[in-house]
Formats: sequence, C-alpha cells, structure tokens
Amino acid sequence: MSLLPRSAEEFSSAEYWEKFFKKRADKAFEWYGDYNRLCGVLHKYIKVHDQVLVVGCGNSELSEQLYDVGYKHLTNIDISETVVSHMNQRNAERRPGLTFQQVDATQTPYEDASYQAALDKGTLDAMASEEEGILARSMLTEVGRVLSVGGRYVCVTLAQESVIRLAVEVDSVSCQK
Ligand SMILES: C[S@@+](CC[C@H](N)C(=O)[O-])C[C@H]1O[C@@H](n2cnc3c(N)ncnc32)[C@H](O)[C@@H]1O
Repeated sequence: MSLLPRSAEEFSSAEYWEKFFKKRADKAFEWYGDYNRLCGVLHKYIKVHDQVLVVGCGNSELSEQLYDVGYKHLTNIDISETVVSHMNQRNAERRPGLTFQQVDATQTPYEDASYQAALDKGTLDAMASEEEGILARSMLTEVGRVLSVGGRYVCVTLAQESVIRLAVEVDSVSCQK
C-alpha cells in the first residue's frame, strides 16, 4: 500500500488510516505544522487548565509538546487502534496521565459540555473529503455537544472553501438551538 490514498475520499475512511499507521509504524507524521509553528495561536485560545479534546491525534507530537509545557488535561482520540496503542506505549512512562483512546470522533462517550476546548489539526480536512460531508458534519456536531458554553474549537485546516462552508453551516444550526 502506498501512503497516498487512491482517491481523495479515502482520507475519510477508518480503514485507510488503520493501514496508514500500520505501514508508517512508529515514524511521526506531523500534518500542517508542529508546536513551534502553532504555539502562538494555541496558547491564545487554549488555557493550561482547560479540559481539551484532541480530535484525530494521529502520531503527532503536538499533544506531547503541549503536555510538556503544562497542559495536563488532554484527551487524545483517534479512530486507529494501531496509532492509539503506539501513542500509549510511547508516553506511558514519561507522561503520566496523557491518554490516547480509540474513539470515533463522530460518536464519543464523553458527557455534554465536558470540554473547554477541542483541538483539530488536519482531521476535519480528512473527514470532509467524504463527498456528502456526512462524516465531517457528525464530527462537528459531536464536538459542539461536548464543548461547554464558551468552549473553543481550534481547527488547523487548509481552509478549502467546501470545508469552511461545512463548518459555518454546522455552527449556524447549533446556534439556532
Ligand atoms: C490528517 S491526519 C492528522 C493527524 C494529526 N492530528 C496530525 O496533525 O498529525 C487525520 C487523523 O484523523 C484520524 N481520524 C480519521 N477519521 C477519524 C474519526 N472518525 N474519528 C477519530 N479520528 C479519526 C486519522 O486516523 C488521522 O490520525
């Protein structure tokens, strides 16, 4: 299997990501930018004591770097069992309390309003590659459900027009509630 998907839509499939991380093994793959590039915006919108849901964490080093500078309430989720198990092994000894869970971001077990921030780097883009946008809409709705009033969804995205349209659409539906 090549690391590149056969079609753009494959980026949204759980099977693609499981194979991607099996193939990639323990080599980190940092989408879009790392902590050094993003720290300004991250510190502005995410506070050290916030409960933070990291959506589609992959094997990015970002959560580890946030943990190391003081963010101790990070819940990292990903659809891939392989990457979650790898990330738990990588951090078990060095970073107590930094947890990685295999959870589908469209359907999480977390309580309503239990997070002050959600951090997404590349995951909305990947999920939005499914043509109808159903997966991305479900994920955004789920993130909205678990965020508290005043909670922040911090999304690092290529900001393609279709993705922005989708995010605005879901946001305006939740605001009408
Ligand atoms: C483009 S990668 C970004 C990974 C990481 N955030 C980074 O910046 O390197 C997208 C990630 O979303 C995960 N993902 C895709 N669909 C998901 C879903 N339904 N629920 C949770 N994670 C998902 C993939 O396994 C992959 O790790």
